[in-house]
Amino acid sequence: MKVGLLTGGGDCPGLNAVIRAVVQRVTNEGGTCIGLLEGWRGLVQKLTLDLDIKLTDGIIAKGGTILGSSRTNPFKNPESDLPALRANFKELGLDALVAIGGDDTLGVAHRLHKEFNLPTVGVPKTIDNDLMVTDFTFGFDTAVNIVTECVDRLRTTTESHRRIQVVETMGRHAGWIACFSGIAVAADYILVPEVPIDMPHLIDVLKRRRASGKNYGIVVVSEGAKFPDKGIVTLEAESDAFGHARLGGVGNVVADQIEKQTGYETRCVVLGHLQRGGPPSAYDRVLATRFGLAAGNLVLQKRFGTMVALSGTKIIETTLADGVAATKTLDLSYYNEAAAFFR
Ligand code: F6P
Repeated sequence: MKVGLLTGGGDCPGLNAVIRAVVQRVTNEGGTCIGLLEGWRGLVQKLTLDLDIKLTDGIIAKGGTILGSSRTNPFKNPESDLPALRANFKELGLDALVAIGGDDTLGVAHRLHKEFNLPTVGVPKTIDNDLMVTDFTFGFDTAVNIVTECVDRLRTTTESHRRIQVVETMGRHAGWIACFSGIAVAADYILVPEVPIDMPHLIDVLKRRRASGKNYGIVVVSEGAKFPDKGIVTLEAESDAFGHARLGGVGNVVADQIEKQTGYETRCVVLGHLQRGGPPSAYDRVLATRFGLAAGNLVLQKRFGTMVALSGTKIIETTLADGVAATKTLDLSYYNEAAAFFR
């Protein structure tokens, strides 16, 4: 069996661990693997890398993806890209394709299976943790740990200067990263996309904290957080091949308002792509390895149109259709727990 692998969308720590595990599982059963470079572009343009156990042996500790990634969407230019993609699949002699990605990449894998019967299997990844059907995605734990470390560092300078520090995190339209890291750093307030920004309450909390003797404050803001009367804050008007705008900037708006309304000196740090960089946490390495082995099994059993997921502590099989049906926004029970401290 010859298996193609690709990684699409925003990269995240743990992708290489999946690649290593798929290669090991398929090779153990006498199959071979080939990498398709830079997401779906690799299949459209036939950009490949031969994968074997030797090449993938030491990559578990490496962030990013040895295959490269892109937000190429072959359904954006269907007349040219889809025939090329299907012809290349055939020419490369592929029997199956493992697509490792978020909702966009897995959405393409789903459509290719549904509309052209292309033998695809999906592996969910994203730092945003916003994929349905899986309790957690790898990359998320690493991102939360990076934010936590950064805020631990910011805290000392914030306290020295008696400032308010606003920290903007990634996460797109889901507040998982902001909420988990906000709890981990004991933030004075957390803003997430799922709950409209309540500026009067935030100001009230910060003032009460000052009055009770805490002379600095930490506010964690998800990039997708919205003011009740305004839309999402974006960095540029243009959107990517999947129609997504580039989010960012809400942290500065919030910081501005805090300074104006309280008189406390306020700064904003946008953590940006730092959250996706560097080696994966041990948790993400283990989860990604388990996903990769399970995806390898699905391929060997020819269970196409499926994807792997985490349910509790078990790795399960589910369908690509279910996996891309909706965005998994933050479970508000976590936010309510965090809000117990907004006093
Ligand atoms: O989906 C992952 C993610 O990191 C989001 O949290 C963020 O909004 C987006 O990707 C950034 O994308 P890019 O790397 O294209 O700037």
